[in-house]
Amino acid sequence: MSDWQELEKQYYMRTFTRMPVTLVRGQGARVWDDNGKEYLDFVSGWAVNSLGHCHPAVVGAVTEQVKTLIQTSNQFYTVPQIKLAKLLVENSCLDRVFFCNSGVEAVEGSVKLARRYGRLRLDGAYRVITTLNSFHGRTLSMVAATGQSKHQNPYVPLPDGFVNVEYNNVSSIKKATSTDTCAIMLEPIQGEGGVNLPDEDYLKEVRAWCDEKGILLILDEVQTGIGRVGTLFGYESFGVEPDIIALGKGLGGGVPIGAFLAKEHASVFSPGEHGSTFGGNPLACAAGYATLKYIIDEDIPGRVRQNGAYFMSELERLKSRFDFIVELRGKGFLIALQFDRDCSDSVVKSCLDRGLLLNAVKPNAVRFMPPLNITKNDIDEAMEILEPVLAEVDK
Ligand SMILES: Cc1ncc(COP(=O)(O)O)c(C=O)c1O
Repeated sequence: MSDWQELEKQYYMRTFTRMPVTLVRGQGARVWDDNGKEYLDFVSGWAVNSLGHCHPAVVGAVTEQVKTLIQTSNQFYTVPQIKLAKLLVENSCLDRVFFCNSGVEAVEGSVKLARRYGRLRLDGAYRVITTLNSFHGRTLSMVAATGQSKHQNPYVPLPDGFVNVEYNNVSSIKKATSTDTCAIMLEPIQGEGGVNLPDEDYLKEVRAWCDEKGILLILDEVQTGIGRVGTLFGYESFGVEPDIIALGKGLGGGVPIGAFLAKEHASVFSPGEHGSTFGGNPLACAAGYATLKYIIDEDIPGRVRQNGAYFMSELERLKSRFDFIVELRGKGFLIALQFDRDCSDSVVKSCLDRGLLLNAVKPNAVRFMPPLNITKNDIDEAMEILEPVLAEVDK
């Protein structure tokens, strides 16, 4: 067998700090490496494999579509694209969709749409207020939107038009708003920033401020969308309706797809003002349709609420047992454990050795993003691995 990890070091750009494991197969909540070792996957490709690995609904739809029509240009109508657009609109508060290929493209497209709105309706306003500790992706503009110096500093100067203010602080948003502001863009729960939940009324107050100023509210739901936090979209959990929403990650059940949706009044693009070669292709849309339809028909968000509460109660038990766990935070199946020390790498490594995949979201916090359809038994199994690992740290 080839030494894939050595070959990677030789040929791949040095962009990732990888785990010393080469994954070759996945099924449900489990993956296997090239030595045949099995792991319970509570990372899910960074909150992507919403129905686990190789779910029959996704595999069936992709297999059928791959034999039928994979790609056309957007000069032509294609059926999976329209079916997925209709399903998204019928199950959200938004009116129109644009499909792309990744989360960052969805957020970038949302900002372009807001800028177009600013040009047409707000005297050329173009600035977008975002928050510190946010994460919106890796293009230059979205690095400027992402309020984290570690992502911004290597690439200065950054594109103009973004102001990063404190998260969960409405007055900092109010202070930063000017006649140049066309939109405020937020994650309902900050994901990469460490799973940070806002106060209950934060989003409602930001919504009210946007209404008062006549500016747009964009929610980046690339991570919180498609059932992850126990409602189909995160905004439903916070009782607000955004003007624009960005989606990615879980929408394709593992197949790359992104989307942004807007209310009718904000859908201001004219023909030619935005586009994509691959965005909305039949293959990705067939995967997206199968995934979303299953999630809706089987009430997966309801299951996330139920099993997420069970998982939280189990983690709460660990928090009471171990003093070095200082906080447990999250919603649905987007959860983090906060430690009083920088031990997350060693926790993740020990869990990996024992067959559980976790994410070290911060040096002192681990994140759990299992497939949305895991069972209580999967959670029990994860706890059986995690608890002794944490007991080791506590020694
Ligand atoms: C909230 C949020 N927005 C945007 C992105 C970027 O998505 P992608 O990596 O698919 O470009 C991410 C990725 O983690 C994210 O969590």
